[in-house]
Amino acid sequence: MSEKIQISKASVDAAVSDALKLIQAATDLASLKSIKASAIGEGSKIASFSSVLGKLPAEEKAEAGKLITAARNELNQAFASREADFYQVEQAQKLLAETVDVTAAASTQVLGARHPLSLLQDEISDIFIGMGWEIAEGPEVESEWFNFDALNFDADHPARAMQDTFFVEPVEQHLVLRTHTSPVQVRSLLERDLPVYVLCPGRVFRTDELDATHTPVFHQVEGLAVDKGLTMADLKGTLEHFARIMFGSDAKIRLRPSYFPFTEPSAELDVWHPGAKGGARWVEWGGCGMVNANVLSAAGIDPEVYSGFAFGMGIERTLMFRNDVKDMHDMVEADVRFSQQFGMVL
Ligand code: DAH
Repeated sequence: MSEKIQISKASVDAAVSDALKLIQAATDLASLKSIKASAIGEGSKIASFSSVLGKLPAEEKAEAGKLITAARNELNQAFASREADFYQVEQAQKLLAETVDVTAAASTQVLGARHPLSLLQDEISDIFIGMGWEIAEGPEVESEWFNFDALNFDADHPARAMQDTFFVEPVEQHLVLRTHTSPVQVRSLLERDLPVYVLCPGRVFRTDELDATHTPVFHQVEGLAVDKGLTMADLKGTLEHFARIMFGSDAKIRLRPSYFPFTEPSAELDVWHPGAKGGARWVEWGGCGMVNANVLSAAGIDPEVYSGFAFGMGIERTLMFRNDVKDMHDMVEADVRFSQQFGMVL
């Protein structure tokens, strides 16, 4: 086959022009690479010229060698320039695809925050756990008996209506959404061995409209201690300690005579809030008293042997005057920016 190969200006030019056509036909870097062998590589016409060059008579060799070298140079240049073109196009496309729009809005994820009511509830729980008390819980859908009867509310006691109760239908079931955390007092006494020292934080419900100071769903924290020999002095000492941790070492408490069916005597609890915005002042904080003998009896406890004290306060209300939150809406609307002001405590 090699015998038929003629190295002449015409045949070399024809081979070059065929190879140039192949190089021109490439559409991208990959296809250019794949035609390299047939256009200028081992399988190309030019390569076959080189292979017969050695067999030519000496007088033809120099001329043919020049032709082949010139052809190779031309093809190599054409190949290199086509390669450079494709490389440039591909780089440009790559850059375009990787373009970063520095003016685009950032899509960073906003970190959440725990709700200040949860934080406050935990803080209060920790204070009492530190004194050896236990945390107790009860159901939010509560029987009327625990919510009212066992707490010494008469069947037609105005307090039942006063507390604006949500009754659960059918009414014959005598279920309510608990109007306070006090029913957990009786549940704790029935479930636990004496003495009992429990703190019961939780959600409560009343038929109030949502406004700046009311919400139909809110939180209370209830305290109950039943032991031998407990007196009003124990109640006062406990509340004073609680107040000092909540409001600072200058905080004081004051009890004003009041009435609750489940305590006797009963008192309203005020706290002297030294850090109050606009100056230190007395603030109404909750209710308290010595556990009524009828409540102890309802739980099967002999009031001649045991005595107890109880207290209850609203967590929303506490947060409002402690942290100067002016509007209840802020506490129920779940805007994370409100929660973030209270820190990222976990
Ligand atoms: N349960 C009462 C209320 O919701 C608050 C309360 C008052 C709780 C006196 C008590 C207490 O434990 O002794 O208004």
